[in-house]
Amino acid sequence: MKITVINGTEKHGVTYHLKEIFLEKFRDKAEITEFCLPKDCPSFCCGCTMCFLEGEKKCKDAEYVQKLEKAILAADLLVFTSPAYVFHATGAMKAMLDHFGYRWMPHRPAGEMFGKRAVIITQCLGAGDSSTAKDIKDSLSWWGISCISVCRFKLMGDISWEKLSEKKRWSMEEKLKKTAVKYLETDYTKPARTKFTTKCKFRACRLLQKNLGKADPKYTDYKYWNEKGWTGRVRPWK
Ligand SMILES: Cc1cc2nc3c(=O)[nH]c(=O)nc-3n(C[C@H](O)[C@H](O)[C@H](O)COP(=O)(O)O)c2cc1C
Repeated sequence: MKITVINGTEKHGVTYHLKEIFLEKFRDKAEITEFCLPKDCPSFCCGCTMCFLEGEKKCKDAEYVQKLEKAILAADLLVFTSPAYVFHATGAMKAMLDHFGYRWMPHRPAGEMFGKRAVIITQCLGAGDSSTAKDIKDSLSWWGISCISVCRFKLMGDISWEKLSEKKRWSMEEKLKKTAVKYLETDYTKPARTKFTTKCKFRACRLLQKNLGKADPKYTDYKYWNEKGWTGRVRPWK
């Protein structure tokens, strides 16, 4: 199996240690590709909208974004990690997710996403773990992923991994290992089930594309939906 990990920080802090605990059980069973932000996607989206209008290869940062996309599409399991920074995902994570705006369902979602599985790991000192996870989950669900597990934690004490109490570390490890076992025992030959809400979002976007296509049949997003057969009877899920 293939796992792609995208870390919202390069620091070897608490987030790093939690991610390592989660990956431990996969080390000798999976091919793991890791990215660390901002190193692996260092520039912000400048809002040129070239990706929406002319295609993702026209992005000034295509070199980084396409490398990430290739690994994301190849993965059976996606893992996203981030500490809470002022109640949200790190700026580096947000900057990376902005680059994938063109993969949101109202634009050009990748068909493969509808069968993928993802795990989000977030933590904070006292509050913001859930809004941080939501920042990431919003993108993943609008990319078409239905099967998303969230492991979020509040440290409520020291923020250095080494100084955390045994009890705190143990409770976090338990949750991470339980989630890891779930994904270790998953049959990846079968795509994840696409949720009803994801299908509803897709249907709404399909209507949008059909209307946009009537106004301009050369519109990049409409052409994409049409080529996939999604404006007709074809669907990206089984
Ligand atoms: C810029 C910044 C903003 C932060 N904002 C929050 C916050 O809103 N809520 C919170 O509980 N902790 C906040 N923290 C604390 C971190 O979430 C916490 O220390 C976390 O364990 C850091 O993870 P790391 O060791 O992986 O870097 C913030 C830390 C930084 C550096």
